Amino acid sequence: MDIRTVGVVGAGLMGSGIVETAARCGYNVIMREVNEQLLDRGKQRMATSMQRAIDRGKMTEEDRNVAEARISATTQLSGLSGADLIIEAITENLDAKKALFAELDRIAKPDAIIVSNTSSVSITALAAATDRPSQVAGLHFFNPVPVMKLVEIVRALQSSDETIDTLRRLSDTLNKTVVVAKDTPGFIVNRLIVPQLLDAVRLVEDGVASPEDIDTAMTLGMSHPMGPLTLLDFVGLDTTLFIADVMWEEFKEEKFAAPPLLRKMVTAGYYGRKSGRGFYEYNKK
Ligand code: 3HC
Repeated sequence: MDIRTVGVVGAGLMGSGIVETAARCGYNVIMREVNEQLLDRGKQRMATSMQRAIDRGKMTEEDRNVAEARISATTQLSGLSGADLIIEAITENLDAKKALFAELDRIAKPDAIIVSNTSSVSITALAAATDRPSQVAGLHFFNPVPVMKLVEIVRALQSSDETIDTLRRLSDTLNKTVVVAKDTPGFIVNRLIVPQLLDAVRLVEDGVASPEDIDTAMTLGMSHPMGPLTLLDFVGLDTTLFIADVMWEEFKEEKFAAPPLLRKMVTAGYYGRKSGRGFYEYNKK
C-alpha cells in the first residue's frame, strides 16, 4: 500500500509532533482536533518546534514553509476520509479509543490502515472495534517526535504482515528506527522505563533525596539526557499514572504499582510541564 496522505487524530503533545514529522518528511497531513482552539494550540506547538529546528540548523525557512503548506486542519472526523493512514493520538482512554476506532472504520477508505500511538492500551481490542482488524496496529512514537529516533510497531493479534510491512516502510521514510513488539501493556520502552520512574517518585516519597538531586544523580551518574523526575514532568504525570495502572492491572507486579504521591499529584492537577507544575514549576505562557 502506497501512503501519501496521513490523517492524525489529536493535536496534543504527541499528535502535533507526529503531524510535524510526517509533513517534514513529505506527506500531506490532515490534523483533526475537537475544536479550533486545540487545533491552534497544536499549530503553535509545531511552529515553536520548527523554529527550534531552524535555530539549530536542522531545517531551512523554506523547508518549514513547504512543510506547513502540506498540513491541513479539521474539526470533523469525516475530514480524514481521504487518508491512506490514520494515526490516533488522543488521550489514553480505552473506551474513547474503541469508540473512535469504530467511527474511523466507518469513514476511512476501505484499504486505509488505522494505527494507535497509545503507550499501553490493547491494540488487539482496538482492532476488534473495527471491521478491518488486519489493517490495525500500534505505531508508538516518542516525545519529542521530530527528535526521537525510535518508533515501536505493535502487532495486534489480528494485524496482517502486509500492514506491518507498510508501517515499516513508512517509518523508514520518517527517519525512524523500528522495533516490533507484541501487544502487551507498555510494549518495550515503557515496560522498562515506567518502573524506574515510579521508583524515582518513591525516593522522593521516602525523603531519600530532593527531586533536583535525584535528577542530577541520573544525568551525571548515568548520562541520561533528563533525570527521571524531569522526564516525568516532560511525559506528563497523568499519562505515566495511566500507563502504570494499565500495567498493574495486567501484571499485578509491585514494580508497576503507582506510589501514592504520584496519584495525589495527578489529583491535584500537577501534570508536569503541560499544566505548569509537576515536580518542578514552569512558566505558563
Ligand atoms: N526538530 C528537529 N531537531 C530538533 C528539534 C526539532 N524541533 N529540536 C531539537 N532538535 C535537535 C537539536 O538540533 C539537537 O540535535 P544535535 O544533537 O544533532 O545537535 C537535539 O535535537 C537536541 O536538541 P537541543 O540541544 O535543543 O535540546 P537538548 O539537548 O536540551 O535535548 C531532548 C532535548 C531531546 C528533549 C533531550 O533532553 C532528551 O532526549 N530527553 C529525553 C526525552 C525522552 O526520553 N523521551 C521519551 C519519553 S517516553 C515517551 O515519549 C513514550 C510515552 O509513551 C510516554
